[in-house]
Amino acid sequence: MRAVAVTEFGAEPQVMDLPQPEPGPGEVLVRVAVAALNPLDWKIADGMLRDAMPHAFPLVLGVDGAGEVVAVGPGADRYALGDRVFGQFMRLGAGGGSYADFAATAEEAVAPAPSRATLMTAAALPTAGMTAWNLVEEAGVREGDRVLIVGATGGVGTFATQFAAGRGAEVIVTARPGAAVLMCDLGAAETIDHSHGRIAEQVLSAHPEGVDIVIDLVHDASALTDLARIVRSGGTVASTIGAADAAALELHGVRALNAQNSPSSALLSTLATELDEGRLTVLIGHETTLEEAPAALAASRSGRARGKTVIRV
Ligand SMILES: NC(=O)c1ccc[n+]([C@@H]2O[C@H](COP(=O)([O-])OP(=O)(O)OC[C@H]3O[C@@H](n4cnc5c(N)ncnc54)[C@H](OP(=O)(O)O)[C@@H]3O)[C@@H](O)[C@H]2O)c1
Repeated sequence: MRAVAVTEFGAEPQVMDLPQPEPGPGEVLVRVAVAALNPLDWKIADGMLRDAMPHAFPLVLGVDGAGEVVAVGPGADRYALGDRVFGQFMRLGAGGGSYADFAATAEEAVAPAPSRATLMTAAALPTAGMTAWNLVEEAGVREGDRVLIVGATGGVGTFATQFAAGRGAEVIVTARPGAAVLMCDLGAAETIDHSHGRIAEQVLSAHPEGVDIVIDLVHDASALTDLARIVRSGGTVASTIGAADAAALELHGVRALNAQNSPSSALLSTLATELDEGRLTVLIGHETTLEEAPAALAASRSGRARGKTVIRV
């Protein structure tokens, strides 16, 4: 089968011809229709998780995907052949990922695909959608809160904007001018241009009393601690990249939250329902092919994503 894989940590991702994976106990084998790109994919290729779990090489890249169940392993009984599913295919110890014609995964790592949305839309949801849902939940976003989302125009941010606005928060997002209208369509009350002046000063000039919560997907610990001066005492600063420095933020009277995705089949189903019932928009910024996936991964390193990048398999 065709797959995009690396032969070792740090190697260039390449399109390879690899054996089709076998579903193990409790696993399903899916013919992948669409995979989706997350920065996590190239971080895994670089070795970010090398000390956390075993990896087998060639390592097929990609976590997110959607497609049709074509085989089930021993003891797997949630899905029948032909069922359309979407979810995560993070099977690093068996060398498996979603950028391939076929991918295996634990049956609880997927859920039935949304009934009204396309597999392309479904594939774009899992990692970014679940992370955004968990972030907004754990940050405790409530009606009336003023929330700043930094890095809002990418995968996690476009979902977090919608979930925070859906809870009745006043959401301010970073967005370059070309993305401002789009972000307001997703529920942002206001946009600030991070390419034109410091974010903290721009927020404080419009809102001298500051914000209740910062959700930051971009800044390192020192930049995030500096940004925390715009957060009211008792507020929260959340990071998806481990940049919320609890000791430093405590000096500002602010709670630090380093969010980690908590994936589950139930949460995937919740997101599918949000999509089917029209409460969630999936912004696909770039559509590409398996053959072009290595170039898309290289582009993702620039951090200049707009919504999600999807890979037609
Ligand atoms: N901890 C976890 O479980 C977890 C889960 C998911 C993701 N993450 C991490 O969270 C981060 C975001 O993920 P993602 O999927 O949303 O990434 P993404 O799709 O690549 O989006 C990145 C976004 O950040 C914006 N950006 C870059 N520099 C900026 C700056 N200085 N100020 C404001 N915005 C800026 C970009 O917009 P412009 O091009 O307009 O600047 C782009 O829209 C990644 O590092 C990812 O690995 C962690």
